[in-house]
Amino acid sequence: MALTFRKLHRHFVGESSPIELRSVFDSDTLAAIRAGMDEYAVLVFRDQGFSDAEQLAFGERLDGRLHQGTGSRAFTKSRLGNEAISDISNLDPDGEIMQADDRRRHYTLGNRLWHTDASFVDPPGRYSMLHARVVPPVPADTEYADLRAAYDTLPAETKAELEGLRAHHSVAYSRHLLGFEFSPEEQEKVKGAVHPLVRTIPRSHRRSLYLASHASRIVDWPIPEGRLLLRDLMEHATQPEFVYRHAWRVGDLVIWDNRCTMHRARPFDDTKYRRELRRVTTLDIAEPALAAAGS
Ligand code: OGA
Ligand code: MN
Repeated sequence: MALTFRKLHRHFVGESSPIELRSVFDSDTLAAIRAGMDEYAVLVFRDQGFSDAEQLAFGERLDGRLHQGTGSRAFTKSRLGNEAISDISNLDPDGEIMQADDRRRHYTLGNRLWHTDASFVDPPGRYSMLHARVVPPVPADTEYADLRAAYDTLPAETKAELEGLRAHHSVAYSRHLLGFEFSPEEQEKVKGAVHPLVRTIPRSHRRSLYLASHASRIVDWPIPEGRLLLRDLMEHATQPEFVYRHAWRVGDLVIWDNRCTMHRARPFDDTKYRRELRRVTTLDIAEPALAAAGS
């Protein structure tokens, strides 16, 4: 049966008709999912039974090469033994809920700032695929903002002003905002990256803001002026009309396009309840193999 998507928000987010992604290998279905991503930017798949290996393999089939972990690698190793599968949980290396003062927890709390994955490296993240394994009995949602719709609704003068601007993204900057400091040796491993502030998404040809709390300055601008522009744009892009809130069910796989969305985790009592999700993120690089994937 053909794959269909039901729109969950005025601007973006599609919920897929039933499908078991770990057994999807045919190029037509993979192409239909990519087309869904072009249109909706966020796709929700219910009842997925992925193991880590199956989630990794699906990520590669859908979108090519995977990120091998990013910011946290500067100071810790994953408890999962494979840096390509990110441990999005509140558990320590022994599988116990992290203590309030655990440094790894403080780093993880940075996910509660609006961001887009791996924008502080080059290549940044393209698709992130987050799978819910254990969800708390209280709301512990994730919010997404549509940066294409946010761009479209900017005044023409602002769009003209943004043309050609580039932003520097740094995880040391965004973590510092929350009081988390990398040591000088760790900072050597997270130097940041420069990306255009407005992007055109290949295939859909839609224009999008490219923003995140990691964005620390506008290249060639005085720092305060750049930060104020970034704040204004973040404020604009995260107005309720551009935001979808996802309430997780066990088995949900949510795929988002980091090139044209931001997301953030919402607070819950994370020193009390277990929350375990696993994420695979692809590299935002040209994919000749995928371009030929129709064959
Ligand atoms: C992520 C992320 C938010 C959440 O996995 O990249 O930011 O709600 N997750 O866990
Ligand atoms: Mn994230």
